[in-house]
Amino acid sequence: MIYIALKHQTDFDGWRQAARTLVLDGITPADVTWSVEGDEGKLFAASGRTSQSPSSATTFSVSSRFLELARATILHRDRERFAMLYRLLWRLRDHHDLLEVAIDPDVSHVATMAKAVRHDEHKMHAFVRFREIGRERDARYVAWFEPDHHIVELAAPFFARRFADMPWSILTPDLCAHWDGAAISFSPGVGKAEAPTWDRLEETWRRYYATIFNPARLKVKAMQTEMPRKYWRNLPEASMIKPLIAGAARATEGMIAKAATKPHKVQKRLEEPMKPKSAASGELETLREEAADCRACPLWDATQTVFGEGPQRAPIMLVGEQPGDKEDLAGKPFVGPAGQMLDRALEEAGIDRKKVYVTNAVKHFKFVPRGKIRLHQKPATPEIMACRQWYERELAAVKPALVVAMGATAAQSVFGKMTPINKTRGRLIDLDEETKALVTVHPSYLLRLPDADVKAREYERFVSDLKMAAAVLRKSSRAA
Ligand code: URA
Repeated sequence: MIYIALKHQTDFDGWRQAARTLVLDGITPADVTWSVEGDEGKLFAASGRTSQSPSSATTFSVSSRFLELARATILHRDRERFAMLYRLLWRLRDHHDLLEVAIDPDVSHVATMAKAVRHDEHKMHAFVRFREIGRERDARYVAWFEPDHHIVELAAPFFARRFADMPWSILTPDLCAHWDGAAISFSPGVGKAEAPTWDRLEETWRRYYATIFNPARLKVKAMQTEMPRKYWRNLPEASMIKPLIAGAARATEGMIAKAATKPHKVQKRLEEPMKPKSAASGELETLREEAADCRACPLWDATQTVFGEGPQRAPIMLVGEQPGDKEDLAGKPFVGPAGQMLDRALEEAGIDRKKVYVTNAVKHFKFVPRGKIRLHQKPATPEIMACRQWYERELAAVKPALVVAMGATAAQSVFGKMTPINKTRGRLIDLDEETKALVTVHPSYLLRLPDADVKAREYERFVSDLKMAAAVLRKSSRAA
């Protein structure tokens, strides 16, 4: 018997190297026992029975598909995973197309394990809730999560990208991940007692969930599939779920009784006839479809995701804050009062709106209901950062020469950190070698200015900022 003790639970490289040597040496799966140092494998290692001696044979290669499957499967918590993978690898030597045989028990077992790992990663992305420790400059965000599998290293880069400008730690019993704004580091797992259980935003979140909960749309089964009970204990909103479900029937009856008067006009989504897709818009269309189901932050309960719109290869991308009431209903950015202000300024600056890509930093409308009115709420940093993936993907698809960030929220998304408007306004800033950014105010800011003279002056400044964008547009080979 050959005993292999891997260095740690996610030691893919160690497994790969050992498996390769074993296959080349012709060691059958039945003759290998796999373990991890620190588990019982330590005993084997200490007793000197671990073997990873180099092989005399020379070549053996596997497909990238197998490697991808193995990389995910190694993160499964099942202790048999190393042996399972080795058996599959062993069989692949003589049966190159084995992975195509979905009903093969080894293939199906490994595929199920890899799927469980990806599912767990997805759940971690969705259900990590940070709590604030300290205030303002000293604020740090800490979350507790109990993954089913060894996915902390796999999932951590997602949080680094989404929450790039907030220092965070995700504590788990296996491993803790930390982000300091520049790099991810890991430390050993800890107990739940180390994690904060409350922060100053807790009540706000709870009230917010209670406000957005729509009893008439309650589907308990679907909700429990999406958000299994085991995650509830770490979600600030979870304590609201039971009472809200319990009260849902009564609340719905109340809604029906009230609705007997007249349907609430603003709740009706404005339907547009389907437009044929142009080939060039394919990538953006795919993104738009994906974003329609986004659940990366709690704002998804708005009427719909309002994705950006405009030509796929637009030379300029305009970024606003978030859709307002009108945009939420129409499913299009900047069609309400701020949109009209923007259209007017664009025209004066000599920019044809049809030639630019218009989007928002946050793709869902954030509001609090006040009677029949939905009052706009400024998005918070976690929401901006959760939504940033869509801006980044739009940027990568459109590849504009210039991104115009309108307002502080847009600037935060574009630069990945809080960016004061006054210090950056009106000059071209390099985002990368091919893309520049221009910061200006948000058109809603102009709408809110009470003094007519100040408003006129600020409007002129806004137009002159847009004229800088117009110059970029004129120079661009894509402008025609
Ligand atoms: N304000 C924005 O930032 N975006 C819109 O789409 C509408 C208003």
